Amino acid sequence: MEEERIINPEIEGTAEERLENSLRPAVLSEYIGQDKVKENMKIYIESAQKRGESLDHCLFYGPPGLGKTTLSNIIANEMHSNLKITSGPAIEKPGDLAALLTNLSEFDVLFIDEIHRLSKSVEEILYPALEDFTLDIVIGKGPSAKSVRLDLPKFTLIGATTKAGSLTTPLRDRFGIVHRLELYSTEDLATIVKRSSRILKIEIQEEAAREIARRSRGTPRIANRLLKRVRDYAIVLGNGDITLKIAKHALNKLEIDELGLDEIDRKILETMIVQYSGRTVGIEALAATVGEELDTIEDVYEPYLIQIGFIARTLRGRKVLPPAYQHMGYEWE
Ligand code: ADE
Repeated sequence: MEEERIINPEIEGTAEERLENSLRPAVLSEYIGQDKVKENMKIYIESAQKRGESLDHCLFYGPPGLGKTTLSNIIANEMHSNLKITSGPAIEKPGDLAALLTNLSEFDVLFIDEIHRLSKSVEEILYPALEDFTLDIVIGKGPSAKSVRLDLPKFTLIGATTKAGSLTTPLRDRFGIVHRLELYSTEDLATIVKRSSRILKIEIQEEAAREIARRSRGTPRIANRLLKRVRDYAIVLGNGDITLKIAKHALNKLEIDELGLDEIDRKILETMIVQYSGRTVGIEALAATVGEELDTIEDVYEPYLIQIGFIARTLRGRKVLPPAYQHMGYEWE
C-alpha cells in the first residue's frame, strides 16, 4: 500500500504538486468560490467544535481540480487536527485500511480520494468504523481464527469522488455531509489567479487575469497551471509582468481557445459533428472513436462541455448542440 500523506507544501511531491500545494488556501475564509459548501461547512465545523465532537463524515463529489483536497486540508486545519491522505486504489486489503484507522488520533481527518474505487472487502471494514468507530478484525486463520473488536478514535472521513453515482448505497448513506462541488465562475477564477499571482510574486493586469480565468474551464487547478505557463512567456518575451497581450499570445500558443477548449475537447466536438453528423452517440462509441478513456471523457471533458451548452446528455447517449457547431466553424443543419 502507498503511504498515507500529510500535506507539507515545502517538501512533498513533484514540482507541479508543490506549486499546487503552495497555492492552497489554509483556512475557509481564504477559500474562493463554492459559497454554498463554504457556508455550510463553516456552521458544521463550528458546531462540532462547540459540542467537542468530531465532524461528521463528508463526501465531496464533482469534476477533478475543483478543490476537494484543498477543502479537506482546510477542514483539518479548522478542526485543529491532522490530515491523512490516501486513495481508494491505494488501499488494497482490509489490513491496509485497519492499519490506517488504528493509527489515527482523536478528531483526525482521513481523506480518501477516488473513494468509489475501494474494494468490497475494504468497504465492509469501513462501515462499522464510520458508524460506531469500531473495527472488527479477524486474527489467525482456520478453526482457531478469532474475531476481535477494537475501538477507534473519533475521526472524520472525507471521501472524494468524480463519480458519486458509482458509490454503493451503504457507503453513501454513511456520510452525514454530502456536497457537490461546482465549476467556478470566471469572476471567482480571476480572483484565484490574482491571489496565486500575489503568492508567486507575479505582476498581472486585471484583464490578463480575467483572460486566463475565462479559458480555465471553470477549474482552479487549470487556472493555476495556465498562470504558470503564461508567466514563462512573460519572462521570456517581456519583463515578467503579465499583460493582456502576453496572456493572449501565450494561451494561443498553448492551443487553448477562447472558451478554454483544448485539443481533446475539439476532437470530441469534431467527432460528434462530422463523424456522427450530429446524431446522438453512445459514450462508449464516442470514447472509442476519439481514442480516450470513457472515464476521462465523462469525468474530465464532458462536465465543462455540458456547462457551456455544447453537448447534452440524453438517455440514449450524447448529443452535440448548435452553439458547438458555431464555435467549431460548422453550419448547423
Ligand atoms: N487555489 C485553488 N483553489 C482555490 C480556491 N478555491 N480558493 C483560493 N485559492 C485557490
